[in-house]
Amino acid sequence: MNASILSTKDLSINFGGLRAVHNLSVSVDMGEVHAIIGPNGAGKTTMINLLSGDLLPSSGQVFHRGQDITSLPAHRVAKRGIGRSYQITNIFPEFTCRENCWLAARSRRETAMRFFLPSGRDRGTAALTEKTLEMTGLSAQADVPAQAMSYGEQRQLEIAMLLALEPEVLLLDEPLAGLGPNESVAVIDLIRRLAPDHAIVLIEHDMDAVFSIADRLTVMVNGEMLESGEPAQIRASDKVRQAYLGDELELEVGQ
Ligand SMILES: Nc1ncnc2c1ncn2[C@@H]1O[C@H](COP(=O)(O)OP(=O)(O)OP(=O)(O)O)[C@@H](O)[C@H]1O
Ligand SMILES: [Mg+2]
Repeated sequence: MNASILSTKDLSINFGGLRAVHNLSVSVDMGEVHAIIGPNGAGKTTMINLLSGDLLPSSGQVFHRGQDITSLPAHRVAKRGIGRSYQITNIFPEFTCRENCWLAARSRRETAMRFFLPSGRDRGTAALTEKTLEMTGLSAQADVPAQAMSYGEQRQLEIAMLLALEPEVLLLDEPLAGLGPNESVAVIDLIRRLAPDHAIVLIEHDMDAVFSIADRLTVMVNGEMLESGEPAQIRASDKVRQAYLGDELELEVGQ
């Protein structure tokens, strides 16, 4: 086993006759942003679902810190510090931004202690809540009910709630989707700040963003890995150009 925090070996899943992910071996190290790119339907989200324990592979394995976690259910995977965002469905709309964060932080700290410690005196949870609000730039929105926040702010809250769980691995599926330009810059900046002490798997269609923060990229097409390497390598790959990026890369990355 290598020193990667999270890795897969020949991971596959079929949906009926469809090979959504096929023989995929990828890894992510601490301090690294590993971006997964590829056209719609390439199997990127399915791969995240396999890493997070939301889907069980047809074959292959997932390893976390050298241990085989392939068959662990999602809640056990999350407990190991592998966090993924579940989109806005996880937010309580009538609770404030701070309350949503607090609930996430509290769930992380749930131990036998909670039976003895009234929630109002749980300083650790309160401090963690404020820290995540600050990190995600949501402090000014803290008292706003989630349902009154903009779509972009709700996506940021989703990331804040994920960070409140203090995961070491972040699985981010299109965190910039639906964000305005300023919000996108804020989230890219946040990912950059988180990178040194997290292992980050990032799925994103915004090529400018991807090439500006990824240390490593894996290109998926039809469930398979087409190419994997550093940004310069991916940019220079004829295979990638032909199969996926084409002119888009030249235009968006300014080659
Ligand atoms: N639960 C499922 N049952 C059946 N087919 C599925 C299921 N989930 C995904 N698929 C199919 O698997 C393939 C990969 O889907 P996936 O959502 O992983 O792609 P993606 O790379 O995330 O695409 P996008 O960029 O559009 O988000 C698609 O053909 C999709 O229709
Ligand atoms: Mg997807």
